[in-house]
Amino acid sequence: MNDETVPALSAAPLLPPHVFADQSSRGGVAVRALLAGAGGYLPRRIVTNDDLAARLETSDAWIAARTGIRQRHIAEPDETATFMGATASRAALTAAGAVPKDVDALIVATSTPDEAFPATAVRIQHALGIAHGFAFDLSAACSGFIYALGVADALIRTGQARGALVIGTEVYSRILDWQDRGTCVLFGDGAGAVFLTAGAGSGASTDRGLLSTHLHSDGAFGDLLSVDGAVGRRDRPGVLLMNGREVFRHAVARMAEAVDEALAANHLTHEDVDWLVPHQANLRIIDAMGRRLHLPTERVVVTVDRHANTSAASIPLALAEALADGRIRPGQLVLMEALGGGLTWGSALLRV
Ligand code: COA
Repeated sequence: MNDETVPALSAAPLLPPHVFADQSSRGGVAVRALLAGAGGYLPRRIVTNDDLAARLETSDAWIAARTGIRQRHIAEPDETATFMGATASRAALTAAGAVPKDVDALIVATSTPDEAFPATAVRIQHALGIAHGFAFDLSAACSGFIYALGVADALIRTGQARGALVIGTEVYSRILDWQDRGTCVLFGDGAGAVFLTAGAGSGASTDRGLLSTHLHSDGAFGDLLSVDGAVGRRDRPGVLLMNGREVFRHAVARMAEAVDEALAANHLTHEDVDWLVPHQANLRIIDAMGRRLHLPTERVVVTVDRHANTSAASIPLALAEALADGRIRPGQLVLMEALGGGLTWGSALLRV
């Protein structure tokens, strides 16, 4: 289409600027998205580094030293994005003491949906027996869960949802080139979910709930990490391609910025952070972020050794694990950060 044939919708802003002002604080009471529960699902089949080394030019020593990964879970055909996401969601609702009718928004972060449409979110909604509210997928690669948290937070703050399931579910095993040792050793499959509910507070950083999310993207770096095809291209189903060194460099720099931004926006310092729950791509990146926050390693939740990189599922899986085993306790401040294909990146601060 020629640009000249498309009239501008409006030369002036459609809404006066004040309409975009923060609506979340009314009469001194701030609406917040509270974490009510979390859950996860990992495929039955475990593939160790040695299993990969048996058919690829690689070794447990190389993979463990460069990434911290020891094993990953790989989905069987019946373990679809929908099945795993629904199972993780049931676990999150159970942990929250909630039932499906409490869910009025369901957001799935995934780069590996079962179908182009309907959205995996709608399939999960139906699998949970929910016939009200709305459900949709969101694509932001490994930052997808942070993005979905940001969207759910906005929906809750503006009164469009009272109970939101935020799900990351991924089957990267189906988009990997299993001959490419530079990428296939890094990823695994799985799903994680959190259930958020609307709550009220004073608006202070001591309140429970999501304090803020900060989201970023820059398409100039799109080719650093991509899947070179999709259902829209019959000639190319697509496999994951990555410039590992450049992604590594961006990951440390961009996530550090997003962390600083989150703390500054809430008038907090690294000393206020109880837990870092980072995207699980590489232990060296996670360690670098922990050092930057001066957090001892026992305050950083790590699953990359057992799960590898499960993309949008990695943060909710790690969060669910650390909540279930009692490491993360009510009242504590949790910092989450991620970077992924896009490039996309961001952070979220949550008082549990
Ligand atoms: N086993 C053995 N050797 C391997 C290998 C493997 N699985 N993968 C790559 N190598 C080799 C390379 O071929 C290269 O060999 P050469 O020097 O003979 O050419 C050598 O190891 C070094 O490769 P390089 O890619 O420079 O290694 P690296 O130290 O950068 O580590 C990554 C590679 C992928 C582990 C690292 O770049 C990384 O983690 N990047 C970030 C990836 C990431 O987080 N992606 C997801 C973001 S959401």
